[in-house]
Amino acid sequence: MNACLRAATRKAITSGKKVVGIRRGYQGMIEGDFVPMDNSSVSNIIQNGGTILKSARSDQFRTPEGRQLAADNLRAQGIDGLVAIGGDGTLAGAAIFFEEHKIPLVGCPGTIDNDLFGTDETIGFDTALNTAIENIDKIRDTADAHDRLFLVEVMGRDAGFIALNSGIGGGAEMVLIPETLTDIKKIKSHIHSLMSQQHRSSIVVVAEGDELGGATQIASELRQDDTFANIDLRVCILGHTQRGGSPTARDRVLASRLGVAAVEALIDGHANVMVGLIDNQIRLTPSRNVYSRKKSINFELLGLTTLLN
Ligand code: F6P
Repeated sequence: MNACLRAATRKAITSGKKVVGIRRGYQGMIEGDFVPMDNSSVSNIIQNGGTILKSARSDQFRTPEGRQLAADNLRAQGIDGLVAIGGDGTLAGAAIFFEEHKIPLVGCPGTIDNDLFGTDETIGFDTALNTAIENIDKIRDTADAHDRLFLVEVMGRDAGFIALNSGIGGGAEMVLIPETLTDIKKIKSHIHSLMSQQHRSSIVVVAEGDELGGATQIASELRQDDTFANIDLRVCILGHTQRGGSPTARDRVLASRLGVAAVEALIDGHANVMVGLIDNQIRLTPSRNVYSRKKSINFELLGLTTLLN
């Protein structure tokens, strides 16, 4: 997010615009938590995770009264265009806000979940993915040394993009994601066949949003089965480690491109759209489509998880 903020700020200043940062997202808009930005405000931040402007969830922004306050504050500051960086909640809020108050707004996709329609990748996804893979590699050492079965839970909310890609990149024996039906009987027999053959250890990557539950629930299902009595089974939940840390090169470049593109879109008169990267080209997608359409998982990748274990 910092890389995106840096790019949007510098592009706007170079284009002769004044830039104001809004702290704590929509809540800051309601409370008038504004900070003037110049080139140096965004110096030395590209390598840092998170966002210097901080982030917040705002229940007040869900109400028309809250959004009215936010619009009044923006107008009082002379703010006539907004760049909003965030996930589906941010972009859904942006669409409603534009429809009610007509202040031009361009969204940038920022979420580790990669679940936004209108872009192949979201800002933060690649960093989270690399963190997940790094941890899976480390877990494999214990799994291998002790002949254990590990269920590793990764984030992604209702989507399996992190699970699928970290499963392939981490060489997991199985990947469980919400986009496909998870059949506990099939899982059990697959694990038995793996553990009895060449794999004395196995790693199953579980998306936190899997319809059967996260790694803890699946582990408890397995433990209730007597045939698992001799399998040394452990759960590891990677959790918020995936949401922080220095961004990867790929994320920094994506965020920089999208930050510049968002400002260009505003200058060109676009409003109520999200900038994204599709097939390596900048594309604009109406905000409504971003949160109302579902981005589909790559089923070819899913095939790889079975083929390669
Ligand atoms: O949407 C991003 C995300 O990191 C999800 O993957 C995860 O379920 C959620 O946010 C965690 O949110 P919180 O930090 O509020 O628990």
